[in-house]
Amino acid sequence: MSLEVIILAAGKGKRMHSALPKVLHKVANKPMLEHVIETAYELNPKSINIVVGHMAQMVKDMVATLPEHLQKIITISEQKEQLGTGHAVACAMPSIDNSSDVLVLYGDTPLTPAKLLKALVASLKDKALCVLSAITPTPFGYGRIIRNDKGFLKCIVEEKDANDDQKKVTEVNTGIIVSKASALNSYLKQIKNNNAQGEYYLTDLAGLIASENEENVNLMIAPDFDILSGVNSKVQLAHVERLYQKIQANTLLENGVTLADPARIDIRGKLTCGDDTFIDINCIFEGVVELGSNVVIGAGCVIKNCKIGDGSIISPYTVMEDSVIKKKATIGPFARLRPGNTLEDEVHVGNFVECKKSHLGLGTKAGHLSYLGDAVIGKDVNIGAGTITCNYDGANKFQTVIGDDVFVGSDSQLVSPVTVEKGVTIAAGTTMTKHIKHEANALILTRATAVVKANYNRPQKKKK
Ligand code: UD1
Ligand code: CA
Repeated sequence: MSLEVIILAAGKGKRMHSALPKVLHKVANKPMLEHVIETAYELNPKSINIVVGHMAQMVKDMVATLPEHLQKIITISEQKEQLGTGHAVACAMPSIDNSSDVLVLYGDTPLTPAKLLKALVASLKDKALCVLSAITPTPFGYGRIIRNDKGFLKCIVEEKDANDDQKKVTEVNTGIIVSKASALNSYLKQIKNNNAQGEYYLTDLAGLIASENEENVNLMIAPDFDILSGVNSKVQLAHVERLYQKIQANTLLENGVTLADPARIDIRGKLTCGDDTFIDINCIFEGVVELGSNVVIGAGCVIKNCKIGDGSIISPYTVMEDSVIKKKATIGPFARLRPGNTLEDEVHVGNFVECKKSHLGLGTKAGHLSYLGDAVIGKDVNIGAGTITCNYDGANKFQTVIGDDVFVGSDSQLVSPVTVEKGVTIAAGTTMTKHIKHEANALILTRATAVVKANYNRPQKKKK
């Protein structure tokens, strides 16, 4: 039996009060719909059908940015008017094989675990429909599961249509169902919109099938409702974000990372760590970040697409992106690594040092207040405070090459393109250019001759 997935993503999301379609709001910096698509993919379906409607083009544009393996199995159906969830599923059915099992997911429920969905799909067997329910002490807003006296599902009643007794029911509809395509094709047509919202409710499918044969509908109760709760408002979006972060933090702890506070870390991508790594509070990890063993990340660091080797220490408030840091390096506090750097073992980059597209060799140190852009720096080089690579002439960028064991004195400018031979000492305050011909181990110094005037009368403010 092949599985096809339908993801409903046509709704406006009125309660978000936003110009952005609801399913494009982000959890961990990734659209909710993308989370749902990735989860669906884990079930190995034949196709993933996304029903778009409200601001369809924006949703399609997002889908077009997804990786190839997802795009290959995605089809898009358009729901011109948002007439309800039942109508939305009906819009996708023409592209679904009548012999498939169909899993329906909502684009506004981003944290559903694939494992739970696999169990739901497996439980369908020869039934027409299986509904995933959950128990919550705060069922307000959700469809309620109404069972008959034998415990079978009788129908699902939406909040707005429920009477007082039904409102007290704590078993709710998560919105996730799996059904035979053939059953959907025959029953969806029968759904009416004579309800409080004037919509064609997908939830009425359960009552229709059950009224013919109660044993044809299965209910599966999910162990935890929280992670299946849909996002309808910014309050719920924030709640789901925290929930997601809590899950990420727990996974890190289980893998042996020490977190100063699991409630104060944000992972917006994929973070992997070796053993005995410590992460202090308020750090943000974006994209793919790999930390080795015994790495220390200080408070408030923002790290995006970086690889940091064993034993390296990143001190507080360091911001780094698209860079590779090898072993036992010490970076920060307040360092900034823009894209394209490789820092070899034991490199030190200190406070207010900015690096871009630079290679710093083994043991090289840039302790304070420098800009190193487009630089290839050898090993054991000392970059003095205030050193600037002048890599830009207003139109083009050029490279600075510095040999091993060079000592660059404080407040020097290296006007690129320029090469400094190995072992050279550049005296403080030097403006080094390609025109200064030199050999290895030379001292280079450019300084204006000092002028001294004795007993100088400094201008004074007039006394009132
Ligand atoms: C729905 C369920 C409710 C369940 C809850 C769980 C129905 C009628 N109700 O209510 O029983 O407890 O989810 O979160 O199904 N959508 C479309 N086209 C439409 C309408 C909606 O694509 O015409 C999409 C939305 O984009 C959204 C999903 O369907 O992704 C759910 O719609 P929403 O309006 O949020 O339904 P709820 O009121 O939350
Ligand atoms: Ca919803």
